[in-house]
Formats: sequence, C-alpha cells, structure tokens
Amino acid sequence: MSSFHSSAVPIPDSPLVIAHRGYRAVFPENTLPAFQAAWQAGARMAELDVQWSRDGRLMVHHDTTLDRCSNGKGLLKDHDAEVLRTLDAGSWFSEKFTGISIPFLREVVATVPEGCWLNVEVKPEAVPDSRHMAKMVASLISACAPLKGRLIVSSFNHLFLQHLSRLPRPPLIGVLSQKWQKDEEILELCIKTEAFSWHPDHRTLEKKAVQRMKSEGFSVYPYTVNDKKRAEELLAMGVDGFFSDHVRILASTFRQGK
Ligand code: G3P
Ligand code: CA
Repeated sequence: MSSFHSSAVPIPDSPLVIAHRGYRAVFPENTLPAFQAAWQAGARMAELDVQWSRDGRLMVHHDTTLDRCSNGKGLLKDHDAEVLRTLDAGSWFSEKFTGISIPFLREVVATVPEGCWLNVEVKPEAVPDSRHMAKMVASLISACAPLKGRLIVSSFNHLFLQHLSRLPRPPLIGVLSQKWQKDEEILELCIKTEAFSWHPDHRTLEKKAVQRMKSEGFSVYPYTVNDKKRAEELLAMGVDGFFSDHVRILASTFRQGK
C-alpha cells in the first residue's frame, strides 16, 4: 500500500452506502441538487462521472453523448464548456428541474461536507491517449484539492489507473471491473496500482473473490445495489459497502453516521 493510504483521513466505517451519481433515484443524476440531496440524506461518500470538454474543462456527466441527460446532442467531448453550460440537464428527469446545468467537477467538490468523501469515476472514453494524460490528471487533482485527500479516483480504463498510480503522491485508487473480467487479473491490477479498493459489478460477485481481495488488503464496493435483500447478501459476503441510487432508503437501513 502507498504511504498516502496511511496519511489520509480515514475512510468512513462500513457499511458505506455510496450515493451513485448523487441521489439519483429522486434527482437528475450527476447534478448539484442530486449531490446536495445525497449529503442531506446521510451519505458519507458520493460517486460521480467525469469527462473533459473540448477545451479541457472537467464536466460531471455519465454518458459520452449528451442526448439522454440533457437537451444537447452528440458527444460531450466535441463541445466547449461554454456551450455545455447553456444546456438543460434537469428537465429530461422532471420539469421541476428545468434549467439545471451540467456541473463542473469543482462545483460538486464544493458541496462535499467536512468529513465526507467523493469517488470520481473517470469515464474510459474520456482519456484519449497518453500524450494528454499528464495534463488531464493535473486538472483532476487540482479540482479535487479542496477535499484534502477525501477522494477515491476510479476508472474502467486500467491504463489510466496505472498512470495515476505512478504519480509522486497518488490519490486513493479504485479499480472498476466489468462482470466478464477475470478476478485474478483484477487482483493483479489492484496490487500493481496499489489500489485502495475494488469496485465490481454486484451481479456476478462471489464470496470467494470478496474474501481473496480483502485478504490482500483491498476494500470492496460493488455497484449498483438498489435492493435491501441483495445489500444484506453482499454484506454477509464481506463487502465494505456498495453504490446505490437510493441512498436515503439504504443509508437509513444501514445506519450512516459522520
Ligand atoms: O462507479 C460505479 C459505477 O458507477 C460504474 O458504472 O456505468 O454506473 O458508471 P456506471
Ligand atoms: Ca459511474
């Protein structure tokens, strides 16, 4: 484990219910109201997705395209931030959220209460090639500086995670995996990147994989769990928490405190 792990503010106790894209069940995902509501509901960590605009600004948005979660069209990366900020990212979800913008990463960072944590997921398609990597990572680290280390950076892009792990003082790293990826290969990557945590798909997760990862010192946070019974099964397997769209329901069941 890197020295960063021991010097950081301790991560909240398990079970940790991580607000997936904010309080996504009730608010438009990845928007400021979704994150504000997640903190109010008792979340101690929230997850978001980031991508870079054409002019290099970090925008909080899940899909590579704008069509599902805004009134824009086409690829996010093809537009400058100034244009992206004119889009409506709320009314697709409900009329009452009309006019809400796609947030900048630094705006979401500013909502994080003292003692709470953020998981920034860098979308795999957002990292075009290694030439741009250093500049992109620098902008990410700078936007998250106010968190003073209360940050996990995760990605399905494992080359990006390896780049991140080679920084002189890397953030905590979360290795995301798809259900078709082999547990042994993921374990190797966790070791290589000195990751903090493994974020698997809960649908194919097995107890032996959870126990193997935990025996190597990695926390395990599966995504995305919206059913209380499944949450209980996963906790019985030994996971440290999980991502959920329904943070209020699950955070109150699996008591969250600061
Ligand atoms: O980070 C966990 C989860 O968010 C990964 O999948 O598609 O919801 O970003 P996705
Ligand atoms: Ca995500």
